[in-house]
Amino acid sequence: MKHFIHLKDVPAKDLRRILIDAKKRKKKRSKLSTLQVDKNAPLKGKLLIQMFEKSSLRTRLSFYLAIKQLGGGTITLRSNELHLGEGGESLEDTAKILSTYGDGFMLRTDSDEKVNNFKRYLSIPIINGLSPLSHPTQVLSDVFTVEEIKKKPISKLNITWIGDSNNVLNSLIAASVKFSFKLNIGCPKKYEPKKFILDWVKDQNKKIYIFNDARKAVINADIIFSDKVISLNDKVNKKNKIKDFKKFKINKSLMSYAKKDCTFLHCLPRGLEVDNSVFKSKKSKVWLQALNRVHVQKSILLYCFGKLR
Ligand code: CP
Ligand code: NVA
Repeated sequence: MKHFIHLKDVPAKDLRRILIDAKKRKKKRSKLSTLQVDKNAPLKGKLLIQMFEKSSLRTRLSFYLAIKQLGGGTITLRSNELHLGEGGESLEDTAKILSTYGDGFMLRTDSDEKVNNFKRYLSIPIINGLSPLSHPTQVLSDVFTVEEIKKKPISKLNITWIGDSNNVLNSLIAASVKFSFKLNIGCPKKYEPKKFILDWVKDQNKKIYIFNDARKAVINADIIFSDKVISLNDKVNKKNKIKDFKKFKINKSLMSYAKKDCTFLHCLPRGLEVDNSVFKSKKSKVWLQALNRVHVQKSILLYCFGKLR
């Protein structure tokens, strides 16, 4: 049984297999409509249970479409409607029931400990749909989008992240190790990645490059990624944090330091970190990026369900 919790724990060759499958599947269904099922309906009869403890638009819808297009079905739970937590039912019993009724479990939560506990007690695969530590389905899909746009392996490209050291960046750092691409990070000193993340990169004999000057971070960039400065449930002084990031706003002037054909990507939802002159420009491919989550998550589901060929 394969789980999909953190990119750092998935072998690089499996990540590449997922992307190869996604590319083939995306191409094959170019003429199919939204809910038409892929040939052979590889997940026919399978149920994906999704549970959200935090808001979501894209992850919820893209997993819905992903499992449907593979011939399966999904139900979406909100944790406050279950007995888990305030109702007093244990996580262990909840996991047993999920495993009895369902074939896979996708969880978005504020607790990595909860993800690990579910992994321990479930007898079906678990997919991390965003936790404080990572957002693996987003970032694997983003690697797919980068290669689709630039038509070359991501290992040949310069990738820059401008923003907070959050879950999405953690997964991007893991991806930079797994796919061997150059990653520059631009953020204020106070918001650099945590030591245990940097230690992991070192242990893998890889390097990432951190700049406290946004302009230096974007020099020669093929891709600039960003994310909200304030993440969901971020327990910080929001006003101060936004002020700290003032010099890290992505605008036309900052883009001019990157390569001419540099692409802007953002997992969405957006805040004030990017201005409309970039976000709505031709350089921005954020809508394609969001769409591709469907295609890549289909192949992640197949991987977890042991059906990736
Ligand atoms: N990018 C992303 O995960 O979006 P949602 O929070 O809307 O799911
Ligand atoms: N870093 C953001 C990503 C949202 C998709 C958050 O955790 O809120």
